[in-house]
Amino acid sequence: MKRILVSLAGVGLLAYGGTVAFLLHYDHVTATELLPASPTHKDPVALAAFNALNEARCDYCHATGRDLPFYFRLPVANTIMERDRDQGLRHFRMEPVLHAFDADFSHLRQFQVIL
Ligand code: HEC
Repeated sequence: MKRILVSLAGVGLLAYGGTVAFLLHYDHVTATELLPASPTHKDPVALAAFNALNEARCDYCHATGRDLPFYFRLPVANTIMERDRDQGLRHFRMEPVLHAFDADFSHLRQFQVIL
C-alpha cells in the first residue's frame, strides 16, 4: 500500500513538473516579440521593462488575439479564466504599451532641449 502511495505521489509530481515545464515553454514561444528594428533592443532599461511584462504574460488578460494556454479551455477553470480575462480586458488594455516598445521616440528628445 505504502509503495502504491509513493508511486502515485511520484506520478503526481512528474505530471505537475511536466505541466509547469510545458507552460513555461508555451508562455515563452507565444510571447510578443520585438521588431528587429525596435529601439528597445539598445535600451537596457526599456528592455528590462518589456521582458518583465512579457514574461508575466499580462497580455493573456489585457490584450486580444493571443494564443491562450490550455487552462483557458479546461472545464470549470475556463469559466474562472474567461471571467478574469473579460474583466481584465475592461480594466486595462496593454496593446499600446507593447507597441510603444517598438516605436522610435528619438525625435522627442529635441523637446528636452526646448524644455
Ligand atoms: C489572469 C488574468 C490576469 C492577468 C494575467 C493579469 N491581470 Fe491585470 N487585471 C485582471 C483583472 C480581472 C483586473 C480587474 C479587476 C481588478 O482590478 O482586480 C485587472 C486589472 C488590472 C489593471 C487595472 C487596475 C485598475 O485599477 O483598474 C492593471 C493596470 C493591470 N491589471 C495590470 C496587469 C499587469 C501589469 C499584469 C502582468 C504583470 C496583469 N495585469 C496580469 C486580470 C489579469
